[in-house]
Amino acid sequence: MEILRDSILFLGICCSLISSFLEVSNAGYTLAATQSLKDNQTLVSSDQKFELGFFSPGSSSDRYLGIWYKNIPDKTVVWVANRDCPLHNSEGFLTLSGNGKLLLINETRSVVWSSNTSRAPRSPGAQLLDSGNFIVKDVVGDNSENYLWQSFDYPSNTLLPGMKLGWNLKTGLNRHLSSWRSSDDPSPGDYTYSVDPRGLPQLVLRKGSTKQFRSGPWYGEQFSGDRVLTANTVFKPVFVSNADEVYYTYETMDNIISRFVLDQSGLVQHFSWNDGHPSWNLLFTVQGDRCDHYGLCGSYGSCDIIDTVKCECLRGFSPRSPQEWKMLDWSGGCVPDDSHICKNREGFIKLTGLKLPDASQFSVNVSMSIKDCEAECLKNCSCVAYAKLDIRGTGNGCVTWFGELIDTREVANYGQDLYVRVAASELVSSAHRSKEKKQMVVAVAVPVALAMILLASIGCFFIWKRINGASKPNDQVSISGARNEHNDLELLFLEISTIEAATNNFSATNKIGEGGFGPVYKGELPSGQEIAVKMLGENSGQGLQEFKSEVILVSQLQHRNLVKLLGCCIQGEQRMLIYEYMQNRSLDSLIFDEARSSSLNWQKRKDIIIGIARGLLYLHRDSRLRVIHRDLKASNILLDSDMNAKISDFGLARIFGGEQTEAKTKRVVGTYGYMSPEYAIDGQYSLKSDVFSFGVILLEIVSGKKNRGFFHPGHKLNLIGHAWKLWNEGKTLELMDVMLENQFPASEALRCIQVGLLCVQQRPEERLTMSSVLLILDSETALLPQPGPPGFYAERCLPDTDSSSVGRINSDSNEISVKLLEGR
Ligand SMILES: *[C@@H]1O[C@H](CO)[C@@H](O)[C@H](O)[C@H]1NC(C)=O
Ligand SMILES: *[C@@H]1O[C@H](CO)[C@@H](O)[C@H](O)[C@H]1NC(C)=O
Ligand SMILES: *[C@@H]1O[C@H](CO)[C@@H](O)[C@H](O)[C@H]1NC(C)=O
Ligand SMILES: *[C@@H]1O[C@H](CO)[C@@H](O)[C@H](O)[C@H]1NC(C)=O
Ligand SMILES: *[C@@H]1O[C@H](CO)[C@@H](O)[C@H](O)[C@H]1NC(C)=O
Repeated sequence: MEILRDSILFLGICCSLISSFLEVSNAGYTLAATQSLKDNQTLVSSDQKFELGFFSPGSSSDRYLGIWYKNIPDKTVVWVANRDCPLHNSEGFLTLSGNGKLLLINETRSVVWSSNTSRAPRSPGAQLLDSGNFIVKDVVGDNSENYLWQSFDYPSNTLLPGMKLGWNLKTGLNRHLSSWRSSDDPSPGDYTYSVDPRGLPQLVLRKGSTKQFRSGPWYGEQFSGDRVLTANTVFKPVFVSNADEVYYTYETMDNIISRFVLDQSGLVQHFSWNDGHPSWNLLFTVQGDRCDHYGLCGSYGSCDIIDTVKCECLRGFSPRSPQEWKMLDWSGGCVPDDSHICKNREGFIKLTGLKLPDASQFSVNVSMSIKDCEAECLKNCSCVAYAKLDIRGTGNGCVTWFGELIDTREVANYGQDLYVRVAASELVSSAHRSKEKKQMVVAVAVPVALAMILLASIGCFFIWKRINGASKPNDQVSISGARNEHNDLELLFLEISTIEAATNNFSATNKIGEGGFGPVYKGELPSGQEIAVKMLGENSGQGLQEFKSEVILVSQLQHRNLVKLLGCCIQGEQRMLIYEYMQNRSLDSLIFDEARSSSLNWQKRKDIIIGIARGLLYLHRDSRLRVIHRDLKASNILLDSDMNAKISDFGLARIFGGEQTEAKTKRVVGTYGYMSPEYAIDGQYSLKSDVFSFGVILLEIVSGKKNRGFFHPGHKLNLIGHAWKLWNEGKTLELMDVMLENQFPASEALRCIQVGLLCVQQRPEERLTMSSVLLILDSETALLPQPGPPGFYAERCLPDTDSSSVGRINSDSNEISVKLLEGR
């Protein structure tokens, strides 16, 4: 009897509770006071973009309250409420108390998480906005954005457009990103990304309390020395610094679904959703090459990447320990050449193109002119440098540094001027140096000046013509974007009329080849610059804005061994990429041609191999975008007039929205003979698939023979199979091109072939990395493992397609794998 009574009582409580639960699930987007949201219910934003509810991350069974994109199939969580205190079953619920607090209640009726408010509302309501912001506000007569509480103030690992990262100086609130501990555990992990609290307007990534990376100070429209966080046609960074708040945020155009994520390994990456191929596109990683490692070069050191990472002391400074410096251990940094700090350091030298340094102490004055700044710095003995820092875009603003300068790097085109205090003696010698230069200049100046005048007048004529031409009305797509003066969009997005003029209206005589997607034309811009215009056809599966932002990003990849992407041209559906023109065409037209290949001696071949390896290492490791080429082959290696090897078509997979973030693709972009087994058969790609292709090219360069179509009377192996056979029989050097006439050091050649074989190993994990390839090729002593059997060495009967025109982007991996299996 008692039991029955208890049960009835219990039922009664339950019923009264249930009645106050939110009735609507999908349609409802407001939670009124005392209403509750159960584990199986969700709130949806009015535009159906975001959804709030309970979820279990990864393989965990714990329940968390979070926000994700409603229409994106793989649940992408952008915010988590109870990061530290999960619910252990689905009996919990969210409710809004009468005084405006959100409460997350577990089954034993304890509050496991709550929000708080600064003031008491009359009638609170909670709502999920279209921006993804979950807010609590007073629903009676309060339409302002003065929310009682908002999730945007407590970010997890994701920054959405419009979300602020930084400080509310009035309340002391610091909005920052913190990584998840793991994909199963959203509690705060090791990494945080925040606006530097000490006053320099910059973003800092920390692991624990140690700085790992910083953006450099905000300057005008961008961060000093950060090439990716700059405005382009779809993305605009914003930095606000005033008496009330200091924060970073960003805007996107065209409704692009975009997010920054600080992942578990400390990478800050920007993704956008690609509707064409439903997937997240990794647009860029904020911290990129090795020079971005905080303080890599120690104090007063500056980092630069040309071929590889290199530290140098700022002018007027020398390595603290020259011995260690020589051994590439830069951590000791540099010391002033003249250490009588105040007595002798009475002037400044100007260094240009730098990411502005960090220091233990500095002072920012947003209204001080650069002249006063110099005077201010000179006054104080411990001031070591100053620079202009125009945070508010007023033209004024300066920063002065005290203590050792750290974490600077060279940033061509984007960097700032830094004035470093040096000894008087250094000033004299630097003046002397420039004088010497001047005298030399005078000697050659007169004839050069004449030529310059001539050139300048020709240039003016063309500029005049261009301006006149441009002012004519025309109906082409003309792209104007938010862009600063550092990067001229006009150059990046060329008008079709310019391309037509440059290529004689795409005349047959200007056609220089057939790429994977369409013809390639040679052209010449009015400036005299020779260009190659590559047609991309129409079926790219990527939206216009995405295409444009990809072009902007890829055009920023710059390395001596990459063909420079100058820009693009968009004419209706037809897209074209504009590259610099390469005098000596492609590697395949050289090494597989008896007449031309005889000009390639061993040294030249070695230089070409090392050039390709350097370019590839830059793509793989040192560039910000971490590009996997995916279609490396001899015809994609071009040679300039000095026979420097340059990789072309890198980034094409990106430009075509090639599902960057997944290690597996349905669309195999590649060419038979160069594709690694795992890629051709399973569509699995990684850096090691490029290494495979590199190995094939290496063997082709030393042998002068094509891998595909290789013929030997004694067996039916392809070139890599042949090389492996010779290696095993101890007759390796028979592989060498007869055109070399045995003019090469045998040890070098053997080493080179061994590297080639180690690159084409069957299993990706047994292949070398590009950095070890370079190390080995540079050294005569590095120990090398014995190669095992290569992948695809017995391939035969592959479909007989011309490698240069395989219809790549649309080829289907199933189709390829079937053919490969048939071929066995
Ligand atoms: C949610 O779960 C409750 C039981 O906890 C159940 O009665 C209700 O039907 C469920 N609602 C939905 C929409 O699944
Ligand atoms: C509910 O939360 C309280 C406080 O965090 C905790 O002590 C209790 O064990 C939780 N109950 C359940 C069933 O998880
Ligand atoms: C809100 O709660 C947090 C964490 O409990 C606390 O640090 C903060 O001071 C509170 N803010 C207000 C306005 O009460
Ligand atoms: C900043 O510079 C201006 C102009 O030189 C000066 O009047 C002002 O006092 C300075 N502010 C601070 C905080 O030093
Ligand atoms: C020089 O600047 C430092 C740092 O701002 C300050 O602590 C020190 O008092 C200044 N010295 C003089 C002489 O102004």
